Amino acid sequence: MNFEKKAPIREGKAKILYETAHPDHIIQYFKDDATAFNALKKGTIKDKGVLNNSMSSWIFQYLQKQGIPTHFVQKLSDREMVVRKVEIIPVEMVVRNKAAGSITKRLGIAKGTPFEPPLVEFFYKSDALGDPLIGEGHILYFKWATEDEMQTMVKNTLLVDHYLRTVFREVGLELIDFKLEFGRCLKTGQLLLADEFTPDGSRLWDLKTGEPMDKDRFRQDLGGVEEAYQEVYRRLETYFKDRL
Ligand SMILES: Nc1ncnc2c1ncn2[C@@H]1O[C@H](COP(=O)(O)OP(=O)(O)O)[C@@H](O)[C@H]1O
Ligand SMILES: [Mg+2]
Repeated sequence: MNFEKKAPIREGKAKILYETAHPDHIIQYFKDDATAFNALKKGTIKDKGVLNNSMSSWIFQYLQKQGIPTHFVQKLSDREMVVRKVEIIPVEMVVRNKAAGSITKRLGIAKGTPFEPPLVEFFYKSDALGDPLIGEGHILYFKWATEDEMQTMVKNTLLVDHYLRTVFREVGLELIDFKLEFGRCLKTGQLLLADEFTPDGSRLWDLKTGEPMDKDRFRQDLGGVEEAYQEVYRRLETYFKDRL
């Protein structure tokens, strides 16, 4: 297939999307740009785009293999992957296995408090509004997703949690929480896991030390940001070597 890069469609905070010669396929280009606190804090993490492109490729291939439909088609280069073009559902699906980040302040829950079973939250994907927390009622009322799509998104989000908790535990990391986006395949309407899975949108704590190994190092100026991304990359590389 012809995956020649054509005009840019959209530039987001961490990625650029390009058209290809094939109407159902687009290219996701991963940048080194990093933002936090609704883009109030901006910077770059050296080689993040290269590492995230690989990590997301492995994880999406792995999830696909476990039966979760994703937009992933193939890795194209260091910073580029080909994905199926979708109509993104403007809802960020968040799973929490332990309390960290916004929920600790919003509900006064101590950091590290376990959620068993995992807690699922929904956020409206809107930079202008700062991605507010919403309920299922809003999603159905405003027709951001149908009841069927909601069911599939929740089911697949919990499956992703189930599979990836095991993956990360095997490489000495605890999957604390993460964010997913889903979209409708333009061609078939099928709901696909889209966007990315990287340390930008997840919290990963080292099992031995409890140290964060994700974008919290950038958010909180903890130092060792590049090293943390590289370390997660190295561990996943070893894990996925014979598993994809
Ligand atoms: N397969 C896809 N088809 C169309 N849009 C996608 C697909 N996967 C991800 N996207 C969208 O592309 C953008 C990716 O760029 P990113 O820099 O992460 O944006 P943002 O600033 O919104 O986080 C996001 O808006 C995401 O919803
Ligand atoms: Mg994004």
